[in-house]
Amino acid sequence: MDVKVFGVVGGGTMGNGIAHVAAQTGFSVLLCEVSEALAQKALKTIDKNLQRGVDKGKMTADEKAAILGRITATTKLDDLAPCQIAVEAVIENFDGKKAVFEKLDSVLGEGAILASNTSSISITKLAAVTKRPGQVIGMHFMNPVPVMQLVEVVRGIATEPKVLEAVMDLAKKMGKVPVEVNDYPGFVSNRVLMPMINEAIYCLMEGVGTPEAIDTVMKLGMNHPMGPLTLADLIGLDTCLYIMKVLHEGLGDPKYRPCPLLAKMVDAGYLGRKSGRGFYKY
Ligand code: CAA
Repeated sequence: MDVKVFGVVGGGTMGNGIAHVAAQTGFSVLLCEVSEALAQKALKTIDKNLQRGVDKGKMTADEKAAILGRITATTKLDDLAPCQIAVEAVIENFDGKKAVFEKLDSVLGEGAILASNTSSISITKLAAVTKRPGQVIGMHFMNPVPVMQLVEVVRGIATEPKVLEAVMDLAKKMGKVPVEVNDYPGFVSNRVLMPMINEAIYCLMEGVGTPEAIDTVMKLGMNHPMGPLTLADLIGLDTCLYIMKVLHEGLGDPKYRPCPLLAKMVDAGYLGRKSGRGFYKY
């Protein structure tokens, strides 16, 4: 697949990171957000994150300007028509993603690939709302996208082998390490990560330790770069709860029940870094 124009739908935490890396790879990027204000916010975040590289002498101000110059923001999905691939990174909610997929399917050219950055929703189910299920695939980047090496490439039941191969090659071109996995709830990343985070929240709820104690045990004892509660705040507690529900419902095993404290914090609007308060205050 010869990608020239790379589409990204959603400019939030994951979407702006994907647009950043795609533009850095040299692609022309079309970034679609629901409003002009959110599109500008996404561009500002990319600018700020690129500036880290300039400040450290890893890239020049001219290189940064060239990368930013390759990103065009829009509020219309119709504008994504020239893309050879579009990666959807909107909020984790099946109905929202379904609407995006239906629209992209009608807008994109025949050979274009429709990818989702979903962390837990079935790729097979998303593919089924389109007329091109063979060209639908999961491209699951990790947060923060410019820093993390992994892309979990998720093969739906109908994903064509040539589409899988094209996306594995594309992820490598973007400087990432792609790993192929099959479409089951949570794939591999969140099937393993989220129950650990959920268990850390149970430890907090039951008073086994303070947030600092729980995080320090995992950081210093297991060499994790950040503790599970700090990581939950980075991911977003609403996303963590959503993924636990997908695991619980999709696999039907009570061991995946979401911790009541996680649900309570989401009810309170304590969503982690993005809302200024989660297990810690920001
Ligand atoms: N954009 C660009 N660069 C960034 C960045 C961002 N958003 N955040 C950090 N960086 C860069 C920094 O500039 C720094 O660059 P250099 O190495 O060139 O100096 C580097 O990343 C390290 O950052 P810091 O020195 O500020 O901080 P750190 O060493 O503590 O690392 C971290 C920060 C990379 C986030 C590290 O703590 C880490 O790896 N944490 C775990 C992250 C993780 O597990 N992510 C997966 C979450 S799960 C997920 O995403 C999937 C899902 O479905 C839920």
